[in-house]
Amino acid sequence: MINRRNFILGSALTSLTTFLGLNRATAKRVVVSGDARPMVISTWNHGLPANAAVWNVIESGGKAIDAVETGVNVPEADPESNSVGYGGYPDRDGKVTLDACIMDETGNCGSVSFLQHIKHPISVARKVMEDTPHVMLSGEGALEFALQKGFKKENLLTDKSRAAWKKWLEKSEYKPIINRENHDTIGLLAIDQKGDISGACTTSGLSWKLHGRVGDSPIIGAGMYTDNEVGGAVATGMGEAVMKTLGTFLIVELMRGGKSPQEACEEAVGRIAAKQDYKSFQIGYLAINKSGQHGAFSIHKGFNYALHKDGENKMYDSSYLVKG
Ligand code: GLY
Repeated sequence: MINRRNFILGSALTSLTTFLGLNRATAKRVVVSGDARPMVISTWNHGLPANAAVWNVIESGGKAIDAVETGVNVPEADPESNSVGYGGYPDRDGKVTLDACIMDETGNCGSVSFLQHIKHPISVARKVMEDTPHVMLSGEGALEFALQKGFKKENLLTDKSRAAWKKWLEKSEYKPIINRENHDTIGLLAIDQKGDISGACTTSGLSWKLHGRVGDSPIIGAGMYTDNEVGGAVATGMGEAVMKTLGTFLIVELMRGGKSPQEACEEAVGRIAAKQDYKSFQIGYLAINKSGQHGAFSIHKGFNYALHKDGENKMYDSSYLVKG
């Protein structure tokens, strides 16, 4: 929303830019006030195109909250990404059900869970955040809300996902897959030119789950959490383990207490390992702090992430707990 103060400030900045003779190319350079420079980090290899979309928004002076939504919209619409949005693997009944959440720099947040037929659950979550007094809408109610807001009802089960589901039905074996073809939930965190932090998380959840199962991804503080004074964190992997420890809230609180993002991610994985049968499932955490440092840690080898920083958008392997 443009208020009078922002308008006057905006006009003053425009005049200053003109006075200093900055051309369009110079103005596009990404600069932040304070310690942090703009950056984007996201889970798995579908993070690369998502980060690139985020960067376009940030580079042109956009807000982190707009950027994170735009970024995760990319894998949500990609039929080849079988763990997010359109083309996501269905539950054991053949139904694609989606979970997502989003959080802005003011601490405002929105989420949807067990949502069917809508390609962009993150955008519905944002509408929940902005247009209702609530944080989460679920199931039929979330779908009705989305339709009222103008979202289109679509079939999200692609031929490829249907074929994978039919194959699964042959044995109907229900066990966690440790690293699912190098992608899973997309969790994404961004710092914009003002130094503000926002986050987004969206998924079709555990493949072949029980109909009605909701994972960590729409739960603020489990799948994703940000605090603009401290930093943010996102989670991927077996949602139940993340929910039992509220992993991303824990990571942000550990950073508030002085831990680095890396130390905080390691401790959050340690909390899971201390009480749960962690060898049978994967969890990966990413975190950033307000100074633009980042951390990544997982239970098993194989978790990777995309980092857009200092002019490069590249994949990195996370360090992990279980050696050998
Ligand atoms: N982390 C995604 C899920 O468990 O649904």
